[in-house]
Amino acid sequence: MRRRDLLTLGAMAMASPALAQSNPARGEAQPASPPSTAAPAGPSGRETILLDADWRFHRGDIPFPKVRGDSPTYESTKAGAARGAAAIKYDDSAWRGLDLPHDFVVEGPFDPDENPAQGYRPKGVAWYRRTLTLDPADRGKHLELVFEGVAVNATVWVNGDVVAHSYSAYSAITVDLTAIAHYGDTPNVIAVRVDADPIEGWWYEGGGLYRHVWLVKRPPVHLVADGVYAHPRKRDDGRWVVPVEATIGSIADTAKAATLDVALLDPQGRVVVHGQASGSVAPLDTAVLRAELAVAAPRLWSVDDPALYSVRTRVLVDGQPADELVTPAGFRTQRFDPDKGFFLNDRPLKIQGVCIHQDHAGLGVALPDSIIEFRLRRLKALGCNAIRSSHNAPTKALLDAADRMGFLVMDENRIFNASPDYARLLSWLVRRDRNHPSVILWSVFNEEPLQGTEAGYQLVRRMAKIVKDLDDTRPVTAAISGGMFNPVNVTQAVDVVGFNYQIKDYDRFHAAHPTLPLTSSEDTSAIMTRGEWATDMKRNLLAAYDGEFRPWGATHRAAWKAIAERPFLAGAFVWTGFDYRGEPQPFTWPTASSSFGIMDLCGFEKTAFYIHQSQWVHDRPVLHLVPHWNWAGREGQPIKVMAFTNCDTVELRLNGKLVSRQANDLYEGVTWQVPYAPGRLEAIGVTGGKVVARAVVETTGAPVALRLTPDRASLAGDGRDAAPIRVEAVDAKGRPVPTAQHAVRFAIEGGRIIGLGNGDANSHEPEQGDRRSLYNGLAQVIVQTRKGGSGNVLAVTAQAQGLKPATARIAVT
Ligand code: GAL
Repeated sequence: MRRRDLLTLGAMAMASPALAQSNPARGEAQPASPPSTAAPAGPSGRETILLDADWRFHRGDIPFPKVRGDSPTYESTKAGAARGAAAIKYDDSAWRGLDLPHDFVVEGPFDPDENPAQGYRPKGVAWYRRTLTLDPADRGKHLELVFEGVAVNATVWVNGDVVAHSYSAYSAITVDLTAIAHYGDTPNVIAVRVDADPIEGWWYEGGGLYRHVWLVKRPPVHLVADGVYAHPRKRDDGRWVVPVEATIGSIADTAKAATLDVALLDPQGRVVVHGQASGSVAPLDTAVLRAELAVAAPRLWSVDDPALYSVRTRVLVDGQPADELVTPAGFRTQRFDPDKGFFLNDRPLKIQGVCIHQDHAGLGVALPDSIIEFRLRRLKALGCNAIRSSHNAPTKALLDAADRMGFLVMDENRIFNASPDYARLLSWLVRRDRNHPSVILWSVFNEEPLQGTEAGYQLVRRMAKIVKDLDDTRPVTAAISGGMFNPVNVTQAVDVVGFNYQIKDYDRFHAAHPTLPLTSSEDTSAIMTRGEWATDMKRNLLAAYDGEFRPWGATHRAAWKAIAERPFLAGAFVWTGFDYRGEPQPFTWPTASSSFGIMDLCGFEKTAFYIHQSQWVHDRPVLHLVPHWNWAGREGQPIKVMAFTNCDTVELRLNGKLVSRQANDLYEGVTWQVPYAPGRLEAIGVTGGKVVARAVVETTGAPVALRLTPDRASLAGDGRDAAPIRVEAVDAKGRPVPTAQHAVRFAIEGGRIIGLGNGDANSHEPEQGDRRSLYNGLAQVIVQTRKGGSGNVLAVTAQAQGLKPATARIAVT
């Protein structure tokens, strides 16, 4: 019986293009042009193809059909025999079509029975499928499928074979398709079962294929995934070198001689220097080749001038270019000094950082690259110079943008565990990220109960070793929230001690350990609601005067002051740059997202933005005034007014009349109680006896019209580029009305709306669709182009009852 089945299977296999390849090593006939000697198409045989488009999606699980009977059971266990929705032949034609990145959890409703920590939304299981056609000319190439991140757990099948099990939302899944691929007319079938229920973090984690998916075609002798390590170093004698270490893999049938050709390209793309090395690689094996480039007087990379070089690594086989990879390179030195804090390029630089989760209004965790860049631009405007990717590996696009835009990054591991499965994830993180000049710290954990124990110490030792074997240029840290005075604790195993919320122990620890460099890895945890000026525990609102904070935290002002005044502290990582879903502390239902952000979930400024901007921007005057000046009904009553500025003094005038002139306290700002009278409240900032800044809040009239302000004037017509549009209601004089709460409806032509938000943590309005209310004067609609849409105009129209509609036009190029 079984023998008969095997024969049948064998016959089927020969008919399958995937299995019918000849094997020259066994003397079988070779295809007409053997791929291993075929000339590569261009300078490199590598193609990197984005597979974000054209997925099919099914929300909910699809149980596998039960198997009964001897033969069916036997057959069901064989390669290629996956069943149910994982099967090659499964009919998914009724499934929804969509493009990635995609977060299916954010599409769902809010539910009071769901987990507040993760944003009160049902998660569950979902399936994705996609086909992929490969040219017969791809036969013989090394083919790899890369999922940059799938939330949370995933199983992947290709052509009916299970090819990956993933248990982390924050690590890539790479699948070698080479042996099982179909070429020509028979499509390859990719099926992914995603289980979003497992909890990996205590914040909103979303669900689905929320990062990019790629197909990488490489020549038979190639650079393996994350196989180039080329991070510039300054030698003790002052010379700059770029040691390049390249891991070459081969699927050829015989050993191959390979030449490594590496070039350093300057920020304009010109070759500065190049070098070579050679070696050989055995079949189905890897080999490491090394070359070193010496560079005289490179332009340095810094947060203010992120001069970005790149390293072009080529593999040549038989003198012909085979594979090529370009990686970012920044020439910079870094040093954490136990007394003087952080030095970038031998100059002291206070770290003005924020912690962030990947989560945005309307989109959940599925952020197009352009939205990641938008968020980083918001952080630049804040004066922020560092990002902590709390508490997990960031998406690659974030590091690329940080390199380009000039941010320092504390790159964090998720699970505190040194066992092989998790050690592999840590190694992956370091291998993927070690060329990015932005990365200055590897963080192995956040707030672990074992931090003050021998076990914690032993785990950190092991994890630090894993990191250092792969990159010895950045220190290892951990975000420690206790136990650091215990006889054995993790501070004894890190290079830089990261403190979460330890204001009271900064000095004590530094005095006890004067040789240990110290940074805040997390601080503040102050909470405020954008545009609200009184805390109302019944309505789940938090005054935005920087008076509310969690018991372990401090106000924005106190947290920064404690760091700014201590030179031995490298800097701050404020919790958080932006609000994120989940952790609605101190509230529960209906509040579904956090209020920790310096900005809300849309990236709109809260008061904390002005506070930090006044402290973190050093090259221009900053002056802001809060709150708004629309207090009808409160005439004559005192209103608390605050100014945040880097000026020496601030003069406040109401309707031209001097209220008072006050010296600025850079940490605290300036506060007045001003009896309300409608009109114009103006702050005048003076430095060195000169007026250098003015800020005005004015009583507005009733809203009469909508206004739309796109973040960018043009977008790429590639179906990926996206931009937020700011939505506000304005009065007859065109002044935004800060109290407007109108329901707005949108229509779009020449693109699509991918998300809507307004920063209201208590709102349960859907985040997809075509409507959203203003919240305290603001809403955001996020639009994306369509593929092939270039030359058109993307037009969004907004309408609200009683207001003149508005249209925004964005050129699609
Ligand atoms: C910290 C933790 C963060 C966040 C924050 C809220 O202890 O590291 O992830 O939960 O508290 O205040």
